[in-house]
Amino acid sequence: MNFEFTEEQLMIRDAARDFAQRELLPGVIERDDKATYPTEQVKRLGELGFLGMLVGLEYDGGGMDTISYVLAMEEISKVDSSVSVIMSVNNSLVCWGVEKYGTEAQKQKYLKPMARGEKIGAFLLSEPEAGSDATSQRTTAVDMGDHYLVNGTKNWITNGKSASTYIVMAQTHSELKHKGINVLIVDAKSEGISVGPHENKMGMRASDTCSVMFNNVKVPKENRLGEEGFGFKLAMKSLEGGRIGIASQALGIASGAYELALKYAQERKAFGKEIIQHQAIAFKLADMAVEIEAARFFCLKAAWLKDQGKPYGHASAMAKLYAAETAMKVTTEAVQIHGGYGYVKEYHVERLMRDAKLTQIYEGTSEIQKIVISRGLIA
Ligand code: CAA
Repeated sequence: MNFEFTEEQLMIRDAARDFAQRELLPGVIERDDKATYPTEQVKRLGELGFLGMLVGLEYDGGGMDTISYVLAMEEISKVDSSVSVIMSVNNSLVCWGVEKYGTEAQKQKYLKPMARGEKIGAFLLSEPEAGSDATSQRTTAVDMGDHYLVNGTKNWITNGKSASTYIVMAQTHSELKHKGINVLIVDAKSEGISVGPHENKMGMRASDTCSVMFNNVKVPKENRLGEEGFGFKLAMKSLEGGRIGIASQALGIASGAYELALKYAQERKAFGKEIIQHQAIAFKLADMAVEIEAARFFCLKAAWLKDQGKPYGHASAMAKLYAAETAMKVTTEAVQIHGGYGYVKEYHVERLMRDAKLTQIYEGTSEIQKIVISRGLIA
């Protein structure tokens, strides 16, 4: 085993850290408060190559490995998870599927602009009545010969309004249940698509989350991604990688809150000494450090397996579960260490705590990760 990062991985981590500290930190409180979409920041993310960092060089991506992706996601999420979720969805849930299963024409038309960060994508799986129970898709894609006719509603769509390209899961043969589901690449400007209002969320308030409605939307047959009926498996495979992104996001939220708490505990005095000198606070920080390190190893292991071409679904579910639970615990303790200051916006930790909650919910709740993990235990 080798626990050392390469020079290139460290350079990517440092570039992400620099970008987060210089360009995301100023204004992050206001963007969260007003739920303002980070237009300029996402443009910069694209220019720096982070939006398509996992895509191969031949398709205008960064050709970087998944270890580098974990490092970059951690640094960006320490500061602004509304930005890092856009990076995660674009890389893992959208670009990955098109690169892996797309035709050459689909890659030229849709993948390249997203890999360059000129356009972004969204992954439309969840529905009003199909969240955790993802096989229960009600959105239909009726086969009309040369095109599909799509009808239905998708919910909680990250990048729903800002995306140019939608990856849409829809039912073509309901009698075949999940084997009748197809994935379609849909131009977000297609006639018949309407987008609901921005959801007024508890955390990750600056990311764009909304419903997307399809009313007799015509999608050319050549826009189906993968074989007929392969849609559900393609979605599940995409989520295996997506969960590495969200696990790394949760890791970043935890380590960002921990760094703030560690600094504060060495500055703030109570009962005649810095509060870190009180065992009650020092032990909290010790627990936080241990759990963050464990979460980091889970993320890196899942990333390493993916880079080695080995199965990584089980490891990514473990990473997502552990890192999300760690993010919630660590951010709650960071607020506690800050006392009253932790409860106001200027000190950042209350935002990190609100953001952490979502990592236990999206891309498969913690309970769904336990389903995936426990099924993987059965020989
Ligand atoms: N890879 C390939 N195939 C897979 C798979 C995987 N990882 N997981 C399941 N499958 C296959 C199964 O083998 C099965 O196929 P066969 O019938 O041919 O054997 C088929 O898919 C159905 O699988 P299950 O029988 O296991 O289905 P299930 O109904 O029991 O549910 C589940 C499985 C794991 C619970 C799944 O529904 C799930 O992951 N739910 C959570 C959905 C989710 O994560 N949503 C996130 C939305 S996206 C998002 O949040 C993005 C964002 O905004 C940030």
